[in-house]
Amino acid sequence: MTLKYVISLFFLLQIALRGAGTLLTSPGNVTIESVNLETELRWLPAPGEERVEYTVQYQVTGHPEWLTVVGCAPTRSRRCNLTADIGEHLNVTMRVRASRADRTSPWSRSKPFCAQNQTRLGPPNVTLYSHEGKLQVRISDPFHRNSFASELKHRVYYRKDNSNWEVHSDVGSALSIDSVEAGLNYCVQAHYVWFSRLRPNSVPSLLRCAVISESDLARAIRAVWVTAAIAFLVIVLLVCVYAFTNNYGKLKKVLQPPLNLPEHQRKFLMGEEQLVQFPESSSNSEEHFDKISLVNIDEEAAEEEEKEEDGEEEEVSSTPGST
Ligand SMILES: *[C@@H]1O[C@H](CO)[C@@H](O)[C@H](O)[C@H]1NC(C)=O
Ligand SMILES: *[C@@H]1O[C@H](CO)[C@@H](O)[C@H](O)[C@H]1NC(C)=O
Ligand SMILES: *[C@@H]1O[C@H](CO)[C@@H](O)[C@H](O)[C@H]1NC(C)=O
Ligand SMILES: *[C@@H]1O[C@H](CO)[C@@H](O)[C@H](O)[C@H]1NC(C)=O
Ligand SMILES: *[C@@H]1O[C@H](CO)[C@@H](O)[C@H](O)[C@H]1NC(C)=O
Repeated sequence: MTLKYVISLFFLLQIALRGAGTLLTSPGNVTIESVNLETELRWLPAPGEERVEYTVQYQVTGHPEWLTVVGCAPTRSRRCNLTADIGEHLNVTMRVRASRADRTSPWSRSKPFCAQNQTRLGPPNVTLYSHEGKLQVRISDPFHRNSFASELKHRVYYRKDNSNWEVHSDVGSALSIDSVEAGLNYCVQAHYVWFSRLRPNSVPSLLRCAVISESDLARAIRAVWVTAAIAFLVIVLLVCVYAFTNNYGKLKKVLQPPLNLPEHQRKFLMGEEQLVQFPESSSNSEEHFDKISLVNIDEEAAEEEEKEEDGEEEEVSSTPGST
């Protein structure tokens, strides 16, 4: 009789416990937040079920067992950091349930997730160095890529001033753009590429710009050219000054309007060089004065000539008389 009661009580307790176990409502809005390979599972408590604890598990696709996330079993938080637990390259599904005292909720599942493929990456950190007339680009990632497949690369876009974007071949972390012009401004932006395609859910780098510096060789060549040009100009200037001061007289003559005399007149004048040259080399006022004095001389001379002529005539007339 006593045994019968005890057994009945045991079954009743079992039923009560089982009923209590399904009393809690499961958490809602289960989502995976993953940025730069740091992955969190987040959920919301069922309404009226705030004072509960949660347990988180995950399963790798193709494996039947569910593994408990040690840091989140149990947890009072509404998020669970799974970064250290799940493999970046694995396809995993996560689940969470609420529990209070001896009651638990059904599991709420996440969608399958592969960190490598689905985590939001970026932005990469682009640093530019202008060196020896080239543009060197260094790109670093905000995550450790050692375990990341070599299929993750950067597609580097660059442009000169405001011209069109050009694409450099995909690179891991460093590149050098050689076909750049010194003195111009270049801008660079890096995008993530996954299996040779622009990766969705990725943030590109900020636009980085730099003015290309001249290479040492180019600078040296330019310095030589500038020096040579200045030296040439100085020499030309000195030659001009020297020639001008030494040939001032000749130059003046050359610049005077030429005397267009017929050849026979020129020859005639050349014969009486002294007479012709004297008034030419003297100034105009002297010429004028000479002319005045010449007029006087001419009159006197004319008088004298007249007298002489008279005398001569007398002599001439007397001569035949005397002879
Ligand atoms: C939770 O999910 C439901 C249904 O998907 C949606 O209507 C609700 O806005 C979500 N709540 C929050 C806080 O995201
Ligand atoms: C990831 O796992 C889910 C369910 O476990 C499956 O439906 C999906 O096909 C898997 N994806 C890949 C790429 O293996
Ligand atoms: C999540 O876990 C990883 C690895 O243990 C750690 O580096 C990271 O700081 C954690 N993130 C947060 C938000 O606590
Ligand atoms: C990740 O993406 C690559 C390329 O799209 C694909 O081949 C691979 O199956 C994906 N892996 C998972 C686990 O989804
Ligand atoms: C980007 O990289 C440069 C050079 O490596 C570094 O000095 C800088 O702090 C980095 N910036 C960020 C936001 O990581």
